[in-house]
This record gives sequence, C-alpha cells and structure tokens, in this order.
Amino acid sequence: MKLARFSRLGFILAAAGSAVGLGNIWKFPYITGEYGGGAFVLIYLITVLLIGFSIMIAEMLIGYLGRRDTVTSFEELAPRNKHIWKLGGFQALAGLFIMIFYSVVIGWIFNYIITSLSYLPASVEEAETTFTTMLHSNFWIQLFYHTLSFAFITYVVHKGIKSGIEKLNYYLMPALMVILGGMFIYATTLGGFSKAVDFMFMPDWSKVTSEAFVVAVGHAFFTLSLGMGAIMTYAASLPKDANLVKSAFWVVFLDTTIAIVAGLMLFTFLYQYGSGPAKGPGLVFISLPAAFYEMGILGNFFAVLFFIALAFAGLTSSVSLVEPMIQYFIDRFGWSRLKSSLSMGFFFWFLGIFAILSNIDGTKEFLTWGSKNFFDWVDYVTAAIMLPLGGLIMAVFVGFVIPESEVEKVVKPQLKWAYKPWYFSLRYLTPVAMFVVMLSLMGII
Ligand code: PFF
Ligand code: NA
Repeated sequence: MKLARFSRLGFILAAAGSAVGLGNIWKFPYITGEYGGGAFVLIYLITVLLIGFSIMIAEMLIGYLGRRDTVTSFEELAPRNKHIWKLGGFQALAGLFIMIFYSVVIGWIFNYIITSLSYLPASVEEAETTFTTMLHSNFWIQLFYHTLSFAFITYVVHKGIKSGIEKLNYYLMPALMVILGGMFIYATTLGGFSKAVDFMFMPDWSKVTSEAFVVAVGHAFFTLSLGMGAIMTYAASLPKDANLVKSAFWVVFLDTTIAIVAGLMLFTFLYQYGSGPAKGPGLVFISLPAAFYEMGILGNFFAVLFFIALAFAGLTSSVSLVEPMIQYFIDRFGWSRLKSSLSMGFFFWFLGIFAILSNIDGTKEFLTWGSKNFFDWVDYVTAAIMLPLGGLIMAVFVGFVIPESEVEKVVKPQLKWAYKPWYFSLRYLTPVAMFVVMLSLMGII
C-alpha cells in the first residue's frame, strides 16, 4: 500500500521530531517549577527509562509488523478478537484532540516571534499584562496565528511521508538543536547556571505529592509521544532492515537531553535575569521575555531565536499528531491524501477556535466546567488519561496478544540479553504501574 518509506536516519529524525515538542521546552520547565524541581525530575527520568523506553519499542513494533494505519495494524496482528483489538487503533484520535490546544499554543509562539523582533516587556508585571491581554481579550490575533499554524501543518502533511514529513524534520531538527545548543552554551557561562543545576537536580522529597508523581508519569508519555500511535504510524513506513531498539534509544535520548538542556537554559536565564523559577504555563511567555529584556542588546535576538526554536519543535510534533488519523482515512476509506489532510486539519482548526474562546473574557464563562476550561480539559484528558491508557493497551497487546515468537524474532536480535527483562517489564511491570497511575488520576486511590 505504502510506497514512500522513511530512510533510517529520516525515521529517527521524524520520531525525534515528534517527541521533541512543546512538551520539552514549554511544559517540562513549568511543571518542574510547579512541582519543586529535583525530585520531580528524578521521577520523570526513572519513568522515561523504565517504562517509556519499553513502551516505545512495543509501539514501534506494532507499526513495524502491521505496516498499516493504527486501526488496521491492531486488527491484523491480533490472532483473535480482532474487532475488540482494533479499537486500540482509535487511540489515534488523541492526536487530533491534542492538536486542538497544541496549534493554539504554536499560534502564540508565532505571535511572540513577530513581536519580539521589536518589543520586550520591561518587567515581569508588564510581561504578564502583555500575555494575559492576548490570552483574555485578543481573539483575532490568536485565531489568525492558529490558522497560520493549521495551514502550515496541513500543507506539510499533504505532501506525504517522504517529501512532507521527512523533509520538514531534515531541516527543522538540526536547526532546533543548533539554536538550543548555542543558547545553552551561552547559559553555562552565566552565574545563574549553577543555581539552575541545583534546582533541577537536588531532590527535595518533601515536595513530592502523589499528584506530582502522576504528573511526572503522564508527562513521560506525552513527551515521548507514546500511547496514541504517532510513533506506530511512522514505524509503519520503516525500511525492513531498520533497528527498532536503536531508533527508540535515539528518540528517548534526544528527547530527554533536549528537555534537560532547555530546562537548564531557561532556569539559568530566570535566575540570572529574572525572578527565579516561575510556575505555570506562562513561564516561557511571561517570565522569559522579561528576562530577555534584562539581557540588553542581545535580548531581542535571543528571544526571536528561542521562539523560532520553540515553533520548530511544535511543528515537527504536530505533523505526527495528525498523521495517524490521516493515514487511517487513506488506508480504510480510500481518501486522497489531500482530502484526508484537509479534513483532519479542519477538525482541529475548528475545535481550536473553542480552545481560544475558552480563555477569552465574555466567552470563557460558557466554556468552563469545574476548575478547568475547555483548553485545560483537552490537555488533561489527553495527556493524563488517553496516552497512559494507550500505553497500557500497547504493552498488553505486545506482551500477551501478539504471539511471542513474532515479537522475539524481531526484538531479540536487537535487544540481546535485555530481551527477557524487556518482555517481562512489558507484561507485568508496565501494566501494573500504568494501572496504578490511572486509578490515582481518576482520584480512586
Ligand atoms: N511529544 C510531544 C511533545 O513533547 O510536545 C507531544 C506529542 C506528540 C504527544 C505526538 C503525543 C504524540 F503522539
Ligand atoms: Na517531548
């Protein structure tokens, strides 16, 4: 069915492009700030290595063996109860849901690239006013940039795996690494750097609540793009001789490194020029621009570069969030790629409008239920519930449903002695851990 395939490097870049996203540069630093630093980072790292890495291999394997869209891959690989297992493939919907707020945030970033060319806020208070004015009263600006983000993403995915997604990642991923690397090196020369290191790596266990634990695990899934079939869909276009374990290693390694580099750099700037680690989603949109202002002449330059890097990270993840459902409609309904891309794009663009409205004064009242508005609900339900649930389904599917001989044939030569521990962890450790996390998320334990 599929003619275009990734090259091996292209796949690693695309999968890393999926993983490295707003989660690393926007979300990880602010939740680290919120949950008190070191101990949170440690729990997150342990989850990434023990659970994330195992599930990443499992998810790649389903795509690699199935070779089709997520629904068909589940269906074909299940020896029986195909109708039940194919539901696992509908996890791909989570990607479209995530896009509802993801595209809006990319829009904010576009806006900040443009405004930072000539303006930076002179204080944290001013920065806060600038951000909240956009958020609460500037519907049209947000809609304009959200639409731009929709148009760009839809254009790239309609070009297909090879000349759309692979090409985008070939340019944007190296550029992103150069920009962040350069800014990181600058950060290491500043006095604030050692404070940032302490903040991120000195665990303060008194700050670890069960909520911090759940958030750390949920974030490990979100940041590695696990549980919704993004990595699975990419792996369906792998060349036969690809090494899944090596690819998974690189993706996990790059994602983790970039999260830590970005975190250290941001906290350095905040200690050096700002008011220390800030909390909440405003970290990169409020505290950071004010810190860039204090840098003086280089400030605008750094700010623009930083937001460009952030946009690159977000766009390379976005294409992986929409591709699974696009693939589904192409494979199962025979839609053209253009029709499928436009339809999926329209879906998140349209609901994205409500994500914007749920922050706007005058309409937000109608779009808030309980403590969260529509925007926050979508974020919460996808990251905290759908992705861990998807991870659980995938672990059980590879651990118990696909015949072990098929799993072993592909994975054992690549993992060698670690094959048995991996299979064991997939069957027992991961499901139990995921189950506990989900119960506590739902407030049951
Ligand atoms: N991993 C992306 C991030 O860290 O921003 C978000 C994401 C992309 C989540 C793709 C899930 C996914 F399938
Ligand atoms: Na990530």
